[in-house]
Amino acid sequence: MHHSVVNQAGLAQSVHSVPHSRIRELAEIAFRMDGVLRLYFGESNQPTPDFIKQAAIKAMDSGYTFYTENAGLLSLREEIAAHYQRLQGVALDPRREIVVTASGVQGLNVAIRCVLDPGDEALVLTPSWPNGASIVAMSSAKAIEIAQPLRGDRYEIDWDALEASVTPRTRLLIYTSPSNPLGWTATELDQDRLLDFSRRHGLWLLADEVYDRLWYETETLGTPVPSILRKATRDDAVMVVHSFSKSYCMTGWRLGYVIARADLAAKATQLNEFIVSHAPSFTQRAGETALREGEAEITAMLHRLKANRDFCIEALAEMPRLTVPRPEGAFYLFPRVENLTDSFEFCRKLLIDTKVGIAPGVAFGLGGEGSIRICYAADKAILEPAMERLHTFLKRS
Ligand SMILES: Cc1ncc(COP(=O)(O)O)c(C=O)c1O
Repeated sequence: MHHSVVNQAGLAQSVHSVPHSRIRELAEIAFRMDGVLRLYFGESNQPTPDFIKQAAIKAMDSGYTFYTENAGLLSLREEIAAHYQRLQGVALDPRREIVVTASGVQGLNVAIRCVLDPGDEALVLTPSWPNGASIVAMSSAKAIEIAQPLRGDRYEIDWDALEASVTPRTRLLIYTSPSNPLGWTATELDQDRLLDFSRRHGLWLLADEVYDRLWYETETLGTPVPSILRKATRDDAVMVVHSFSKSYCMTGWRLGYVIARADLAAKATQLNEFIVSHAPSFTQRAGETALREGEAEITAMLHRLKANRDFCIEALAEMPRLTVPRPEGAFYLFPRVENLTDSFEFCRKLLIDTKVGIAPGVAFGLGGEGSIRICYAADKAILEPAMERLHTFLKRS
C-alpha cells in the first residue's frame, strides 16, 4: 500500500535537553587532521601495562567469556574490598556495598538514575567533567551548577551558593575530587562540610573519586587522596564512583565500580541488567590483577606525571596572559587566559594553526569559560612541542 503521510516521529524532549560534549566537538575536528598533539582527552599515550593485558588473555583462555553477575564477579568485588581496606583503611562488604560497572561513566549513570526522578534537581560543583550534569539531564532532572571560585591560587567551595540553591526538589550533590579539570582536591574540612550539608538537607552525596590515586601533595607518591568514605558511615547516603581508566591506563577497557549504601548498591545491581548487564568478564579478571599487582606501575606513573606537571607549570609561567592555579591531583592544568571570552574558538584556532589539541574551559560548565584545560599525561616528547607552540600562539594572539 502506498503511504503519502510522512511519519513525524521525533526524539524525546529529555534527550534534546542533553548538551553535546564540547570536548568531543573539538576532538571531532582533530580526528580529521594528521599529526595533532592530543592533550584534549583525559588519558595518556601510555599503553595498558603488559601484566594486565596478559591477565585478560589468560582469563579468556580459561573460560571467562560468559555472562557474570550483575554486580560483577564476586572475586573482583572481594579484591576491591581488600584493596580499599589496604589503601583507605575502610572496611567494605563486597556482597552488599560494591557494584562493578562497565566504566566510571556507567557507574555515574546507574548511581544517578537510582536517586533522581523527573523534575528533581542535582547540585553539581563545576567546572567539572560534563558527563555528570549530562546524565542528570538524561534522567529528565535538572543540574544546578555551582561554580567553585578561585581564591588566590586555590579553588574553593562556594558554601553560600550551595545553601541558597537547595529547593524542595534537590536530591543530590555531585562533586569530583581530585577534580577534572581543576586538579583541586577536597580538604578534610571540605569533606566534613559536604557531609554535614548533605545530611542536613537530606541529599545523596556522590563523590567522583576516579582520580584518587593521582595525588601529588603527599610524602610518598602512591598514597591515595583520603576518601569521603573514611568520614561517612556505611548508613550515610553516600556513593563513590571509581574507575580503572586513569590509575591503570585502561581507558579503552571500560571498567569501574560504585561503592554505596547497601540499598542503593542493590538497586544499581538490578538496573545494571537493563543497561549493560555487567562489565565484560575477562576485563573484570584483568581488573583483579591490576588491583593486586599494580602498585609499582602506579608509583612509576606518578613520578612521570608529577615531573610532567611541574614541567608544564614552569612552561606556562613564562607565557603571557595566563594565570595557572596549582593542581594537587588528577592530570590536568586549567590556566585562566586573560580577556578570553570564547575558549572554544581559542582552542579551535590553536588546533588549526598549531596542531595542538586542548580542551576549552566552556566544556566544563559554569566557571569554566575563560580557561583552557591541558592534560599533561602525555609523554614529554608531546608536551614539549605543545608548550612551545602554545607559547608562540599566545604571543601572537
Ligand atoms: C571526573 C571523571 N569521572 C569519571 C570519568 C570516567 O572514566 P571512565 O568512564 O573511563 O571510567 C572521567 C574520565 O575522564 C572523569 O574525568
